[in-house]
Amino acid sequence: MNVTTYAPGRAELLGNHTDYNEGLVLSLAISFGTTISADVNDSEEINLYARTFERHWSGRLDHLAPQKRESWANYILGVVAQLQKRGVSVGGFDAEITSTIPVGAGLSSSAALEIAAALTVQKLYPYKLSRLDIARVGQAAEHTYAGVKCGLLDQISVALSKKNHATYIDCRTFAIDHLPLDADVEFVIAHSGVKHALTAGEYNERRESCEAAARLLGVRALRDVTVSDLAAARAKLPERAYRRAAHVVGENDRVARAKEFLTAGKMAEFGALMFESHESSIHHFENSCEELDFLVAEAKKSPACLGARLSGGGFGGATINLVRRKDVEQFCASLSAAYEQQYGKKALILKTEACAGAV
Ligand code: GLA
Repeated sequence: MNVTTYAPGRAELLGNHTDYNEGLVLSLAISFGTTISADVNDSEEINLYARTFERHWSGRLDHLAPQKRESWANYILGVVAQLQKRGVSVGGFDAEITSTIPVGAGLSSSAALEIAAALTVQKLYPYKLSRLDIARVGQAAEHTYAGVKCGLLDQISVALSKKNHATYIDCRTFAIDHLPLDADVEFVIAHSGVKHALTAGEYNERRESCEAAARLLGVRALRDVTVSDLAAARAKLPERAYRRAAHVVGENDRVARAKEFLTAGKMAEFGALMFESHESSIHHFENSCEELDFLVAEAKKSPACLGARLSGGGFGGATINLVRRKDVEQFCASLSAAYEQQYGKKALILKTEACAGAV
């Protein structure tokens, strides 16, 4: 194969469901990723082989459409279709995909595949688009081929993260800051192995509720509402809409504070905001589940853990834990043992560094 592209997964550090509300978010690219090896072929066809799952897909470039059976291919086909829509002339290619990102963990295996696909095509059939626009291509693919009305957090984190830094994204201006991370802490991902049905439906429903709350508050997006604005306007919102808005508004506020703490190296204060975020997911946004709550509660018992919360869309998937580096092994072992004792099955516990974006 002629070209190789690697795109990491991402973990959401803080700022849950803020991206599509034009808010603030902090993330990092993780040490697990997706690799595509590819070459041009002399046809008008795309031939895909997902080595990790031993699945094939082949089809013509002029007949691209969302796939039901081989739904994994959608993340690549959706990207090709979006590039074509932007006038990129994409020719035939053969591609082989491998991935180390656990699927269904909320670690953006889909965004990694989208960004890897966009960069693969760029290497084979050069086109000019900024990394931010490539992230937008991935997002549009997700909307049109996977039916998830996601924001840009995942694709930006995958495409634009920097080693040993957290990625701070302002999802209104798309200004991106890379904030250096304290070398004494490490991140641990704990994947519950739980994936609740109807996740895309729940996700899209949450997005609609947030947009409806913004309309009732008379603002363009929940980004425009502060914590005190929301308290003052509480009577304008039905109870559930209020709680949805309280989550997003609270998250924006926490991310703004977290950025200051991170910059000042105040990691304990930073971690406390992660715990608060999880509480808000439970009570306000209702996008957690029993297993994630258990993982966060167990993590909180450990003095080695500065903060823990669900990471990503929610309704299952993984937690992210901020852990003192010197105690990380012991933290992982005790979290793993506690989960197994509670549920009779293993959680997948993964240590990760903050990594560079796709190459
Ligand atoms: C998923 C979506 C993102 C973002 C998060 C929640 O990962 O793809 O756009 O909304 O959920 O913060």
